[in-house]
Amino acid sequence: MKNIELGRAGDKVSTVILGLMRIPQLETVENVRSLLGAAEESGINMLDIADCYSKGKAEELLGRTFEANPGLRGKFFLQSKCGIVKDPFYFFDFSKKHIIDAVEGSLRRLRTDHLDSLLLHRPDALMDPEEVCEAFNTLRESGKVRSFGVSNFNPAQMRLLQNALDDAIICDQVQLSVCHTPMIDASFNVNMDNDPSVMRDGGVLEYCRQHGIAVQAWSVMQHGFFKGVFIGDPHYLRLNSVLDRIASEYGVSSTAIAVAWVLRIPGKTQAVIGTTKPERVKSSAKAGDIKLTREQWYEIYLAAGNDLP
Ligand SMILES: NC(=O)c1ccc[n+]([C@@H]2O[C@H](COP(=O)([O-])OP(=O)(O)OC[C@H]3O[C@@H](n4cnc5c(N)ncnc54)[C@H](OP(=O)(O)O)[C@@H]3O)[C@@H](O)[C@H]2O)c1
Repeated sequence: MKNIELGRAGDKVSTVILGLMRIPQLETVENVRSLLGAAEESGINMLDIADCYSKGKAEELLGRTFEANPGLRGKFFLQSKCGIVKDPFYFFDFSKKHIIDAVEGSLRRLRTDHLDSLLLHRPDALMDPEEVCEAFNTLRESGKVRSFGVSNFNPAQMRLLQNALDDAIICDQVQLSVCHTPMIDASFNVNMDNDPSVMRDGGVLEYCRQHGIAVQAWSVMQHGFFKGVFIGDPHYLRLNSVLDRIASEYGVSSTAIAVAWVLRIPGKTQAVIGTTKPERVKSSAKAGDIKLTREQWYEIYLAAGNDLP
């Protein structure tokens, strides 16, 4: 498994991250322990979660798993997110009070004394960068959070926030899969009069690469916004056929090739996998050892239905 350096202390973390948004489906501590065991066995040493996943139930179940298995928490770089409010309705809150209260809640549910990183989950149009800085400083100085990042931010938003922060933003977690490529499409279709030329993200990949910020791809197996998995989907016959052929060349699953496709994007790129199946964790993790050739990467991009100018 390939590693990258992440965070203030330069921790070595795996390029494949285990995302735990869906673990409430697993219901028991034993099932979550098996999932984490598969991650450990595969060289995955980073976990991603958020306070809002199933309204805290995902963190609660992970926390009970840590409690029941002494030593387990210390094996992982643990990342959570805050800033999405679900009650009394859905909105975003980057106020100092909300950020600090959210972290206190996460630590309580996770039965741990610190997060290795905390991400601001989705941009809050009312963000006051100085206030966010105060919240981050309080959390860092109290030892409750070691490093900070963002999610679903564009470069202008990262710049605005970074200017006020004492800490470097370590990552931007964004949606990216072979079937969700607006960030890549725009980079090919510069100055063209077509839909893919519309730059919807402001150049996230280029900005992150230039500033050493890790790009963490979420929903690497989905098309659309949680519309479903493209593996085995009859709408993606050509893609599946290419993935299957390349998978057999490497002796891995097509899922691993889809993850490897994301990891081939230059820079500090990570893939957050969201499976709840230990066997699929192990097969997906093989992506961390694969570097697709340029031809393979382009063939997969085209087979997903994209065109090049
Ligand atoms: N920052 C953000 O805004 C944001 C948003 C969404 C998610 N995330 C993070 O990203 C993580 C991953 O997101 P995600 O769960 O949407 O990712 P995903 O890995 O694209 O999707 C996981 C889902 O796809 C299924 N799946 C995966 N591989 C499959 C295959 N080969 N065949 C059939 N089904 C397959 C899984 O089923 P099984 O469980 O049965 O394998 C699971 O239901 C989350 O856990 C969370 O940590 C972040």
